[in-house]
Amino acid sequence: MKILVVGGGGREHAIARALARNNDTEIFAVMAKRNFGIASLAKGVLLRGETDIPAIKAYARKTGVEYAFIGPEAPLEAGIVDELSSDGIACVGPTRAAAKLETDKAFCRDLMEEQRIDGCPKYRVFHNPADAVAFIKDYGGDLAIKPIGLTGGKGVRIMGEQVDMAGAITYVKSQKSGVVLEERLIGEEFTLQAFVDGAHLVPMPLVQDHKRAFEGDIGPNTGGMGSYSMPDHRLPFVSDSDYRKALEIMLSIVGAMERTGHPYKGILYGQFMNTADGPKVIEFNARFGDPEAMNVLPLLSSDLSDIVRAITGGSLDTSKVSFDQKATVCKYIVPSGYPDSPTPGETITIDSSAGALMYYANVEENKGKLSTLTSRTLAFVGIGPTLEEAERVAEQSASAVSGPVRYRRDIGTRTLLEQRIAHMKELR
Ligand code: AMP
Ligand code: GLY
Repeated sequence: MKILVVGGGGREHAIARALARNNDTEIFAVMAKRNFGIASLAKGVLLRGETDIPAIKAYARKTGVEYAFIGPEAPLEAGIVDELSSDGIACVGPTRAAAKLETDKAFCRDLMEEQRIDGCPKYRVFHNPADAVAFIKDYGGDLAIKPIGLTGGKGVRIMGEQVDMAGAITYVKSQKSGVVLEERLIGEEFTLQAFVDGAHLVPMPLVQDHKRAFEGDIGPNTGGMGSYSMPDHRLPFVSDSDYRKALEIMLSIVGAMERTGHPYKGILYGQFMNTADGPKVIEFNARFGDPEAMNVLPLLSSDLSDIVRAITGGSLDTSKVSFDQKATVCKYIVPSGYPDSPTPGETITIDSSAGALMYYANVEENKGKLSTLTSRTLAFVGIGPTLEEAERVAEQSASAVSGPVRYRRDIGTRTLLEQRIAHMKELR
């Protein structure tokens, strides 16, 4: 198969690496900045903004790719799938209309409500900041404030956690295209990603991401500092019944999209808050998570190229997909000042003797020398029979990087996991 991978981060490196395990798969890649990891797996690379659809379309024609795998959300929102499909290229990724599940938070909530899909928190959509301000003043309790459009995962503000009432009002006034205000959910977050072919859904192992910048879950939200998964593909604070409910919600979404005339093909990412009353939807993404792709894809024991054929051909079923029963821990290395004031251009060195998988993200490579840019730099993924072993491997590699960078030591530790379990027990 000849396939175009769109995107240049750690997530797309994980996608490319999983595709490259099939020797008959030829990878071409489009990315804004050269990702050394992807480039070394690809037969050709186009350095271009990922939303420059005409340039990507021309490159797809030139290389003769039959398939495309869309990593990030921005090109989905720009309609890349609609455009490539019109050229006969089969895409892993939803059309612009179906990607609204991620790109338009009001669309997502309204769909859940109209179709009576479980797990929707109480919410209100406001296009006019003044009305939103009046609602906040009236409500009395804590709310989650979500800008309607894409914000790279950094747009949400939680009252009682990140902002007080005055801060919430200032923030809402700055959101000119409007906000969704939701009840603040209390619980433990988890991610359920699935392959979807328009009608069928096959789930991947559960993952827990860590959005906050610093150890102990404090500081500003980031794109995700790291994540872990367990050998049984579940999480100990998610019961069987919680898991079934989350899966049912995802299946209902796929059914709803099909009924509304915009069948969903690609990767569906469900972000859930496991609350005292079971899982509630924080959001859906129309793509793999970054870092969560790096937890699940290295465990995939089936051929991703076959799965691509099944997703695009509408023949997906569980017999085509299996994952190793191992734990994974992913730790992102980021510039010291990330996310608020990262300093680009700093040299980092890696001790290559350590045993984790390494994924390139926002990092420049020049004759073997690596230097930081402004976003997440590199990720290390430890894999092992237990969480402890996977964490030990990831930690060893992450701690062997020198330079003005940092990472969260606590991700994937038993201590943190015990805290999650205790938190859930306390809520129920
Ligand atoms: P999002 O960009 O929607 O993924 O939100 C970013 C983060 O904000 C999530 O990972 C949650 O930690 C938090 N969040 C979003 N919505 C809510 C909510 N309704 N209640 C509590 N926390 C939320
Ligand atoms: N890890 C969160 C995301 O990819 O949106």
